[in-house]
Amino acid sequence: MENRPLEYDYTVAKMFMFMAIVLGIVGMTIGVVLALELAFPGVNTILGSGVAEFTNFSRLRPLHTDAVAYGFTLSGIWATWYYVGQRVLKVSLKESSFLMAVAKLHFWLYVLVVAAVVVSLFAGITTSKEYAEFEWPIDIAVVVVWVLWGVSIFGLIGIRREKALYISVWYYIATFLGVAMLYLFNNMEVPTYFVSGGIGAWYHSVSMYAGTNDALVQWWFGHNAVAFVFTVPIIAMIYYFLPKESGQAVYSYKLSLLAFWGLMFVYLWAGGHHLLYSTVPDWMQTMGSIFSVILILPSWGSAINMLLTMKGEWQQVANSPLIKFMVLASTFYMFSTLEGPIQAIKSVNAIAHFTDWIVGHVHDGVLGWVAFMVIAALYHMAPRVFKREIYSKSLMNAQFWIQTLGVVLYFSSMWIAGITQGMMWRAHDEFGNLAYSFIDTVTVLHPYYTIRAVGGLLYLVGMFMWAYNMYKTATAGRAVEEAELKNASPMGA
Ligand code: HEM
Ligand code: HEM
Repeated sequence: MENRPLEYDYTVAKMFMFMAIVLGIVGMTIGVVLALELAFPGVNTILGSGVAEFTNFSRLRPLHTDAVAYGFTLSGIWATWYYVGQRVLKVSLKESSFLMAVAKLHFWLYVLVVAAVVVSLFAGITTSKEYAEFEWPIDIAVVVVWVLWGVSIFGLIGIRREKALYISVWYYIATFLGVAMLYLFNNMEVPTYFVSGGIGAWYHSVSMYAGTNDALVQWWFGHNAVAFVFTVPIIAMIYYFLPKESGQAVYSYKLSLLAFWGLMFVYLWAGGHHLLYSTVPDWMQTMGSIFSVILILPSWGSAINMLLTMKGEWQQVANSPLIKFMVLASTFYMFSTLEGPIQAIKSVNAIAHFTDWIVGHVHDGVLGWVAFMVIAALYHMAPRVFKREIYSKSLMNAQFWIQTLGVVLYFSSMWIAGITQGMMWRAHDEFGNLAYSFIDTVTVLHPYYTIRAVGGLLYLVGMFMWAYNMYKTATAGRAVEEAELKNASPMGA
């Protein structure tokens, strides 16, 4: 048994792959609609006022952020977990009917939660906290979904054959623990139905925190949602898939551990940078700024480790579209983790806060790093789970260039828009009167908003190319056995 190659079970991995593709397309289509609404207000009224109510900016914005973060990204994380977990722990889900049932329940309950979120957000039911919009009944279901994932992680670890826990598993565990803690604390809420003796909707609630405390907890959560959804699990992926795809050993395993603990210690203190110049105590704001700048070290520690993994093998970047996705992802990770700390410096934040420069920062991170890495990971998995070759490498290559152009248009237009906006808001004459009214900035921003919409559209086109290529791979790719694929494994997984 020990010497025979294990037969892994990818049923649940495939189900989450499907969800990642569908929710990626849905979430980014909504993103493009939002971008169009900002460039051409009223565009959603074309289809009539009945549609307009459900497609106005405020209704769609949380649907976009939740669909891409908790839909596309989380599904990608889980698809990779149900693939990577078995392989690095050298245990198959086939060996435990209990863990297999947990994994399936995890998936189906998640689908129910997604449906509940879509219906409630379209209906305008929200707690109004960014990234934590779900009302308490959905929160409870989210906790159950999360616990099921935890059972899967620790269950597989419990029956593993491989004694050492590969670094990716550390990052998946940290994601599980980090999100559990943040989600529970930030969503402490009191259902108003019971407090007010049955008045109001049964699902409505108010936060247990008030005023400044509420803001502090919310941004401790918000910032670390970035850490534990957009960073830590994505690093888990790249530490597995880059060495696998390139056949190179991770450049420094020690550095990966050092960066891991660095991220864990520093990230949790940096959330104050979202509340600079607010009513939060000044020392907390300064602490947020300082920890943000320190965060460059562990972030770059991981990014440099990824890039150096390609040492001596740079020709692969030219030859393989999949390596291109991963190398550019690491580069964008470096980029956004330099940009973020700069924006966290108080005097810079005075110009950047509330402007489109922040939106630019968000999207060079999420499009260039998170989405590229999810796309790359699922492309690597496809031939191994479907036992078929990638349908079209040239389509993959074209997708890479179209999406790269999309990201560049997105963030460069938002940089110019944001800095212009920030400067115009502050400009004043010698008597201290503001030089511009708000509408002046709106007029100036119009071309940049249009460019962003075009960039977003290109990225979305790439998502459709990805979906098509994955579908064709699963159904019409040339049959191939795993042993035939380039699969050199420097870590024996
Ligand atoms: C060293 C790492 C990072 C630091 C210090 C940092 C810092 C910042 C700062 C200062 C803001 C603006 C706060 C404001 O004035 O409103 C911000 C916003 C944001 N960043 Fe980062 N960032 C980092 C990395 C990243 C990465 C890698 C991503 C995504 C992949 C990301 C996603 C976001 C998001 C989503 C927001 C917007 C939050 C909101 O207002 O809704 N950040 N970040
Ligand atoms: C086709 C691609 C995309 C387009 C066109 C797009 C467009 C937009 C637009 C127009 C906004 C609202 C900005 C505002 O309020 O001023 C937004 C916000 C946001 N998007 Fe996207 N988006 C895309 C992909 C993504 C992806 C893949 C993610 C994450 C994985 C993401 C995460 C976010 C976040 C976190 C915000 C809130 C930013 C903030 O509050 O500062 N987006 N997006």
